[in-house]
Amino acid sequence: MANSASGESMIARVVRVIDTFGVDRTVQTASEIGRRAGLPSSTAHRIIDELVDEGLLERDLEHRVRLGTRLWELALRGSTALRLRQAALPHMESVQAELREHTQLAVLERDEALFLERLSHPDAVSNITRVAGRLPLHASSSGLVLLAHADPALRERVLEGPLRAVGPNTITDPAVLRRALAEIRRSGFVSAPGSIEAVSTGVAVPLRDRGEVVAALSVVLPREAPVEPALVALRDAAARSEADLRDDAPLTRQ
Ligand code: PHB
Repeated sequence: MANSASGESMIARVVRVIDTFGVDRTVQTASEIGRRAGLPSSTAHRIIDELVDEGLLERDLEHRVRLGTRLWELALRGSTALRLRQAALPHMESVQAELREHTQLAVLERDEALFLERLSHPDAVSNITRVAGRLPLHASSSGLVLLAHADPALRERVLEGPLRAVGPNTITDPAVLRRALAEIRRSGFVSAPGSIEAVSTGVAVPLRDRGEVVAALSVVLPREAPVEPALVALRDAAARSEADLRDDAPLTRQ
């Protein structure tokens, strides 16, 4: 693998190029990508050209660059995320149809909650979650469930802080967070009013694959809405998703 003068591998440079894209930055010029990736302009342009040739990046008519559909295709093929999403989606649809509120599926990814799916409703409360977007573990209801069941080393790392306040009621005190996580493990759910936004309450439950927590299912409710009906619907959806994951039926039946 050809390394740059700094010793950085070609793959590391390619990842840096791809990593300049974000949920709020989906289209960029080649020069912007080079600058954000910290690469010399000629290197950035060469890598971008090759990635465009391979379909991993795409150029629009104004020559601006976006992530290619082929990247999406390759990333999803056979991925754990797709398997989870396929098992959970029909049951998330039931939750969404019943509650008419945002329903979402998240996994732990590099110390954050990464959202694999979000079903919305036109009349539902404000929601900052995006598919393929991330939220801090200590602030989102999904993140709290994932953190409660995470590897203890990760949990301690997060507890060391800093615990940034995202909403008016985000837990920012490590001792309070530690107690909240123990309570989530005990009760099997979390209700987090005002943790992300003042107007809403996130409610989340764990989703297990062969006994291990692999995801969180959540809904975002208006702040004062009752939690119990959402909890019943989420628990039912999690149990059904877990059963589908167990026999992998939705994946093999085409
Ligand atoms: C949550 O997961 O707790 C959550 C996510 C997005 C929001 C509100 C709450 O907008």
